[in-house]
Amino acid sequence: MKPLPHPFDDRDGFMWVDGAFVPWRESTVNILTHGLHYASAVFEGIRVYEGKPFKLQEHTERLFTSAEILDMTIPYTVAEIAQATLDIVEKQGVINGYIRPIAWRGSEMMAISAQHTTIHVAIATWETKTYFAPELLETGIKLITSKWARPAPNTAPTASKAAGLYMICTMSKHEAERQGYHDALMLDWRGQIAEATGANIFLVQNGALHTPTPDCFLDGITRRTVMKLAQELGYTVVERAMLPEELSTAKTQEVFLTGTAAEITPVGSIDGHVYGVGKITRHLMEEYSKLARGR
Ligand SMILES: Cc1ncc(COP(=O)(O)O)c(C=O)c1O
Repeated sequence: MKPLPHPFDDRDGFMWVDGAFVPWRESTVNILTHGLHYASAVFEGIRVYEGKPFKLQEHTERLFTSAEILDMTIPYTVAEIAQATLDIVEKQGVINGYIRPIAWRGSEMMAISAQHTTIHVAIATWETKTYFAPELLETGIKLITSKWARPAPNTAPTASKAAGLYMICTMSKHEAERQGYHDALMLDWRGQIAEATGANIFLVQNGALHTPTPDCFLDGITRRTVMKLAQELGYTVVERAMLPEELSTAKTQEVFLTGTAAEITPVGSIDGHVYGVGKITRHLMEEYSKLARGR
C-alpha cells in the first residue's frame, strides 16, 4: 500500500502533553505503556468550527467520566483540560478542525493490575474536513450490518469512550469497506439496532425521528444536540428499542448518522434497503451546521 501523504506522527507544530507544549514529532510514548497493551485509555473527539471548539465543556466532562469508569483518575480539573484544549487550538492555529484529547495509563506497571501507573493526558488538534467524502452528503452513505455486536453493559464499559471498545468498530468498518460499503451498522448483544462504528443512528418514520436507547453504546453529544434541535424545530423525537426489521422502506423513509466527526451524515442504504436523502435529513443538516457555527 502507498504511504499516505501526511501520517499523523510526522506533522509540524505542537501537542499539549501532561501540561506542556511538546513538539509534534516528539509527542511519543514508550512501547511498554499500559494504555497500549491493555487498552487503559479513554479519548474524546471535538470539532472546531471557525476557531471555536463546539461543546467543549460536554466533551471535557465526558473524558473525565470515561476515565472514572475505567478506574482512572485524571490528575487535572475539567477546567484545566478545557483551557489546555483552547490553548493548543490557538497555538496550532486550527480554524475548522478536530481535537483529540486522550488519557492513558503510563509505564510504571506492566501487568493487569495497574494501581500505581501515572495517568497521562495529551491533546492534539489539526485541520480537517467532512468525515465522509463531501459528495456522499448528497447521495448518502452505504451501510452493511456487521457481524460484530455491541457488547452488553455488564461485559464492557459501554458508557465510556474507551479505546478498547473501538476494536470491533475498526474490524466492522474494514469488512464493510472491503465489500464496497462506507460504514457498518452494528446491532447490540440483543440483536437490536445500536449505532454505526463511530456515530449514532436516527431513522425517520412517518415524519418523526426514532433513535435507539443508548443503554449499551455511547449516548453521543451530537445525538443529544440533534434530538433537542429537532424538537425545537417541531419534530417528534422517540428514543426506544429498535429492531432491524424496521429498516425496511415500508417502515423507514430516511436514515442519518450523528457524531462529532460525522456531524449529520445521510444514509443512502442499509443492507440493500434504499432510502435516498430526504427533506427532514436535509433540514436538520442545515440547522445543525448553523448551530455548530453559532449562527
Ligand atoms: C462509537 C461512537 N458512537 C457514537 C459517537 C457519537 O458521539 P458524539 O456525538 O459525542 O461525538 C461516536 C463519536 O464520537 C462514536 O465513536
